[in-house]
Formats: sequence, C-alpha cells, structure tokens
Amino acid sequence: MSTQKVKALNKLLEATTSLEELFTFLIEQQLGQIAFSTSLGQEDQVITHHIGTNKLPISVFTLDTGRLFQETYDVLASTQQKFKLPIEVYTPNHQAVAELVTTKGPNSFYESVENRKECCAVRKIEPLKRALKGKDVWITGLRQGQSQNRADLAFFEYDEAFDIIKFNPLLHWSLDDVITYLNQFKVPQNSLHKKGFISIGCAPCTRAIAPDEDIRAGRWWWESSKKECGLHITKS
Ligand code: ADX
Ligand code: SF4
Repeated sequence: MSTQKVKALNKLLEATTSLEELFTFLIEQQLGQIAFSTSLGQEDQVITHHIGTNKLPISVFTLDTGRLFQETYDVLASTQQKFKLPIEVYTPNHQAVAELVTTKGPNSFYESVENRKECCAVRKIEPLKRALKGKDVWITGLRQGQSQNRADLAFFEYDEAFDIIKFNPLLHWSLDDVITYLNQFKVPQNSLHKKGFISIGCAPCTRAIAPDEDIRAGRWWWESSKKECGLHITKS
C-alpha cells in the first residue's frame, strides 16, 4: 500500500524542482502529520530555514544522543533563537544509557561494529521511534550525492523499518548548493564545518576529513563497513 503510494507520489513530482514547489506539493497531498528530523547539519539547516520562515505546518525534532559536539549544541541554541521555532529534543532512555555505559564502558563503540550499533540503537534509534510515533511523513535532509548508498533514493520513500513515508526534498542538491543557500540567508552553521568536518554526528564517532576524502569518511572512520547507523536503512 505505502510502496504503491510513494511510487505514485514520485511520478507526480517528476517535473518539480524548487524547494517551494516540493513543500507545497507535500502539504497539498494531506498525508497526515509531518515531522522533520534535524541533526543541525548543513542540509537540515536549509530545511529548517524553509520551514521556519514559511511557518509551515511541520513539527521539527532533533535527537540529542548525549554525545554531540558542543559546537552542535551551539547551532541548536542559535537556530532556536533565530527562528523562534519549537525544536523538540528527544533524549535516550536514561536507564538504557546507564546500563550500556555501566556494563560496556563509555567507549564500547570502538570495540566492534556490534557494540557501535548497540550504542546507536540506544542513543538514536529508540528515541527516533518515539519521535516518529503518530507521524505519517518523515522529512530528512538526505541527498543522493552524500554516498553510494544514497544515490538511488527518490523524493518519497517508504521506510519499512519505521513504517512511514519519508520525504527527501534536498535529493538533487549538491553540497555547494547547500552552502550557497546557507550563506545567502545567513542561516546558523556549525563552526566545525570550517575545520574540515562535513558530515557531523556524535563527537567520539566523527572526525575531520581531508579535501580529497569522501564526505562521509569522517563518520565511524575506524570501520570499513557501510557508514550508516540504522536511522536510514531502506536503501543502505
Ligand atoms: S546518519 O544516519 O549518518 O546519522 P546523517 O548524519 O547523514 O545520518 O543525516 C541524514 C539525516 O538523518 C538528516 O538530514 C536528518 O534528517 C537525520 N538525522 C541524522 N542525525 C540526526 C539527529 N541527531 N537528530 C535528528 N535527525 C537526525
Ligand atoms: Fe553511540 Fe557513536 Fe552511534 Fe553516537 S554515533 S550513538 S556515540 S555509536
């Protein structure tokens, strides 16, 4: 049912390109409750700006894993201030975090992929499940150009893991398009971007990258497996 639905929606969107048109289309479809998840990264700041300045009927939330960079909290603060937009903050279940850190230590993610996924499950996936409860559409800042895993994405995707329709409005944007937009509209940006950090997640799991490296090379850099945490597993 939802797979058919997203196919039909994608077909209708074939000739649509601008952010305005995409969001107008989305809202006109009356698909139900729409939520946008922001990591406060560059792509997400474009979307927050669009939702905030146009006062769109879309709720915005972020997942505070408890391990983010101070610079990311600074972006959260300046974004809340600039847009006067309620950004709902979801935190992990404190008992699950306490149990994980007590039994495995604070840095278990470096020891194995299994441990790393366990930490992501506690700090990101479970809170995400709570955040998406009762929602019908989940907006993300995914771009096709971010990685090979994401190259085949469409504007609308059915996410089986969360049983929800996902909407990726920046699908065809390049990183340069994103940066140009942020500079043009003076949107708050993470100061770490100027220090070689492109894709930014939790502090212990993100490093700066060299100019010739893949933009996701700084995420879980010690692993050779796919650089995904389980938030977006439809096509990865
Ligand atoms: S991840 O899977 O590797 O962590 P990435 O950082 O590329 O994802 O971000 C892709 C999209 O996932 C973002 O545009 C955003 O919609 C969502 N996302 C990632 N991290 C968070 C977070 N901490 N809080 C809310 N949404 C997030
Ligand atoms: Fe844990 Fe690292 Fe995943 Fe953050 S990115 S939830 S610190 S394993």
